Amino acid sequence: MATSELRNKFVFFIIFAGIITLLLIVFPFVELPLKDYVSTFFGTTDGRMGVTAAILLDQVFRILKIVLWMSLIVSIVRFVNQLIFNTALRSNSYEISSLLRNVFSIIIYIVSFFVIFNSQYPGVDLAALFTTSTILGVIIGLALQDTLGNLFSGLAIQADQPFQIGDVISIPTKGEGVVENVSWRGVQIRTFQNKLIVISNSVLGKEVVEVAPRDNLNARLVFFNTLYVNSPAKTIQVVREVVRQVENVSQKIRPIVRVKKLGDNGLDFEVKYWLEDYSKYNDTDALIRQRIWYACQREQIDFAYPTRTLHVETKPQEGVFVETSDDIFERISSVPIFAPLSDEETRKLAEAALARVFAPGESIVRQGQKGKSMFVIHRGTVDVQLKEEGATKSLRKLREGDFFGEMGLLTGEPRTATVLAEEETEVLEINNLCLKPILEENPELVTALSQIVEERRRTLDKLEAETDERKIKDKASVFNSIKKFFGLKD
Ligand code: CMP
Repeated sequence: MATSELRNKFVFFIIFAGIITLLLIVFPFVELPLKDYVSTFFGTTDGRMGVTAAILLDQVFRILKIVLWMSLIVSIVRFVNQLIFNTALRSNSYEISSLLRNVFSIIIYIVSFFVIFNSQYPGVDLAALFTTSTILGVIIGLALQDTLGNLFSGLAIQADQPFQIGDVISIPTKGEGVVENVSWRGVQIRTFQNKLIVISNSVLGKEVVEVAPRDNLNARLVFFNTLYVNSPAKTIQVVREVVRQVENVSQKIRPIVRVKKLGDNGLDFEVKYWLEDYSKYNDTDALIRQRIWYACQREQIDFAYPTRTLHVETKPQEGVFVETSDDIFERISSVPIFAPLSDEETRKLAEAALARVFAPGESIVRQGQKGKSMFVIHRGTVDVQLKEEGATKSLRKLREGDFFGEMGLLTGEPRTATVLAEEETEVLEINNLCLKPILEENPELVTALSQIVEERRRTLDKLEAETDERKIKDKASVFNSIKKFFGLKD
């Protein structure tokens, strides 16, 4: 709670409590003279009427005193409540449920009422009145049957603490959501459709509740299947790698990908992963399924279609990215760096290049990893990012016709940056085996590439000026390391 709000409440409390205390102090001075005046006023005409009026006034004063004292107690309890539960304990990152607060207040109200009532009516045994009056007990019992049931179930839940505010709970017949409040009446949960469900404590007490605690690494399962012709070992490796990179997947435990069943239509796989924030599992499951699709598409792993296993397709299916060798040839020819190559060499490069599609947000190469390919962007945009001491800097955006990954490919060193697909992006992957004979025949290509590597290194080094081992190497050293890595003659 804001300090200013607390200050306002304090000022209000002081004024209110001050007025009531003043009234209680003034009371004895007004009470006696007023009683005398009333009894004399009415007693002059009839003695008995004077006595009755005095008794009535006495009762009014007693009730007024009870009301004033109770008001004072209520204001003190509410203020202390705010101070302890809302300010002090909340800062401890532990939120006290309103049930505890209410129980605390109700106990104080009842005890205070008994004490105040006794001070005004010492002859009346209030406790005995409550305990011996069967009819009163039956009436109160019937009227409060549900309320008390909820209250006691709520107390049991509070004592047992099976879940806390912020946990995700799932109740089979009622729904699922994040616990927002536990009151004397019930538990409020915010569903994933942003609705509020209130479940009474007595109902909740009888249900099986599944709890995913907020501070726990909770796991999820996602399923997919592939055709029998695809190697399960390869599928497991590819899928595990993409799942690890998905946002909100915990890095503390490695995701598990395993064959769940040898199904009728193919291999049934199960992905088990752990979430940082369980309340976002719908988005994370969806992103994982999307990444699995892209990864399988790149690696030519096919999903099993139960009703289509006998379907023979001759033309490319709609929506699947198949580039013709002419498209690839044209794209590679349009890259200025490959301009010195003959048509035949470009054709060879185009035939060896693999078209691969990446999802928005997916990394194509990752900083620090070794890699033996370079990529020409055929469609889409990528962001070259440098990760340093936990922070990520965007170095450059590359578009259709640009290339990247040449630094790792040409020098054999780990990738200098992470390259992320900004939108759905298709790249042509060229590996070192097909590039080697072309570099051997074209020294001018080596020179042009080493100039680009050098230029990009310079930008990197500017950003990493303080890191010695990544300082710019001179022109000759880049040129030489490319020749050394590829075993090219001088
Ligand atoms: P590589 O080191 O293999 O992998 C990351 C790639 O990001 C790198 O090759 C370059 O292709 C690219 N890259 C690194 N720095 C820059 C930069 N300053 N400008 C453009 N691209 C870069």
